[in-house]
Amino acid sequence: MADVDATPAGNVVEVIFIGCGRPNFSMGWTHLEQMLREPLASLAAVVGVVEPYYLSEACVPGEDAELFREYVAAHKDLRFVPSCTALAKELPAVAPGRVRAAIISTRTPDVLPAFQGAVLELGCRAVYLEKPGAATVAHLDDIAQLAEKHQVDVVVGYNRNVSLHVRRALAFAKEREADMGTPPSVTLLHGNPFCDKEMNEVFRRCRPGLFYDMACHELAIAVGFFGLTAAGYSELRVDKASSLQAVHGGITDFVRAAFSLRPAPGAEPIGFQIDRQAGSFNGIDVDGRRFLSGEPPLLYTNPLQSLSSHIALNYDQYVEAKRIFLSALAPVNARAAMPAAAPAAAPRVAPTAPAPSIS
Ligand SMILES: NC(=O)c1ccc[n+]([C@@H]2O[C@H](COP(=O)([O-])OP(=O)(O)OC[C@H]3O[C@@H](n4cnc5c(N)ncnc54)[C@H](O)[C@@H]3O)[C@@H](O)[C@H]2O)c1
Repeated sequence: MADVDATPAGNVVEVIFIGCGRPNFSMGWTHLEQMLREPLASLAAVVGVVEPYYLSEACVPGEDAELFREYVAAHKDLRFVPSCTALAKELPAVAPGRVRAAIISTRTPDVLPAFQGAVLELGCRAVYLEKPGAATVAHLDDIAQLAEKHQVDVVVGYNRNVSLHVRRALAFAKEREADMGTPPSVTLLHGNPFCDKEMNEVFRRCRPGLFYDMACHELAIAVGFFGLTAAGYSELRVDKASSLQAVHGGITDFVRAAFSLRPAPGAEPIGFQIDRQAGSFNGIDVDGRRFLSGEPPLLYTNPLQSLSSHIALNYDQYVEAKRIFLSALAPVNARAAMPAAAPAAAPRVAPTAPAPSIS
C-alpha cells in the first residue's frame, strides 16, 4: 500500500481521483498530473486514485494497459485502487470539520455510480465533476438530489468559463462594437484531433455523443456569457454543408456540427463550429480574429499523438478551474486545523473567478 498522508495539515485539501485513464491522454490523468505540480500541489494532497477500468478484470491487455501499469509503478507515492469500496477500506474517516473532495473523470455514462461512491462510501462533500456531468437528465437529477441530501458542493468542469482566451475574446468583441457601432460576428470554435480510422473508438468512448462530449463546452459559454437559455433561444439554423452525421462502429453520432442561434430575445445570433477532426483547440472567432485556448494559443494538428504537451504548463483553463475549486475549500480546512476552532459549517464552494464561474 502507498504511504499516503490521508489527513494533510493546514488548509491543504484531501483529494480523491475517480477515473485516471490512459497516461498522456485521458482527462483524469491530465487532472492528476496537474495536481502534482504547482500551483495546485500545495493546495491539495492526493489520497487515492480509483481507476475502475485499468485495475479491473475487464481491462483488455494491450499497449494502454501496459502504459497504465508503468504509470502506477512510477508513482509509488500514490494509492491506486480499483473501486471506491476498496479505497474506503484503506482511508480513515474524514477528520472532523475537514472536507474531502473528489475529482471525477470517468466516462460520462459511469459518472452516477462514481458520484455515489464518492459521497456515500468515501465521505466526499465537494466534487469536481467532469463535464457534461452525466449521460442523462435523470442521472443529473439523481446526482443533484444526493448532493442536496448530503450537502455536497458540486462544480462541473466547464473550464472554458475561466479561460483567458474567452476573456480576451469578450473584451475584443466589446472594443469592436464600440469602434464599429455594430456588434461583431461571434463564432464559438472547438476542434478535436481524431482521424477517420479513430472514429469507431471516438464514437464509442465519447457517448452519449458530440453534443454532450464537445458542444456542451460552447453551449456553456453561450449560457454564461451570451444569455442562452433553453426557453429563450430562437432562429436555430443548421449549416448542413459543414455538418456531418455518420455511423461508426454501429453508433450514430456527429463528426462535426455547425449551427447558429439567437441565444435570447434581442441578443445577436452566435455561431458554433464543433469538429472532431479539425485539430486540437477551442476558441472564439470575433469578426475573423481567432482567440484560441492557451497562452500562447495552442493549435495541434490531426491526429494528436499525446496530450502530454497540454498539461498544466499550457492549458490555463484546466488549472484555473481546479485552483478556484481548491481555494474555495481551503478555508474550511484551515478553520478545522485551528485548535480553538468551532465546528466548521458544511463547506460551500464559492468560486472566486469572475462570474459566471465553473458551474
Ligand atoms: N473538460 C474537458 O475539456 C474534457 C476533455 C476531455 C474529456 N472530458 C471529460 O472527461 C471524462 C473522461 O473523458 P476521457 O476522454 O478521459 O475518457 P477515457 O475513456 O480516456 O477515460 C475515462 C475512464 O474510462 C475508463 N476506460 C478506459 N478505457 C476503457 C474501455 N476500453 N472500456 C471501458 N472503460 C474504459 C477508465 O476507467 C478511464 O478512467 C468525460 O466525462 C469527458 O466528457 C473533459
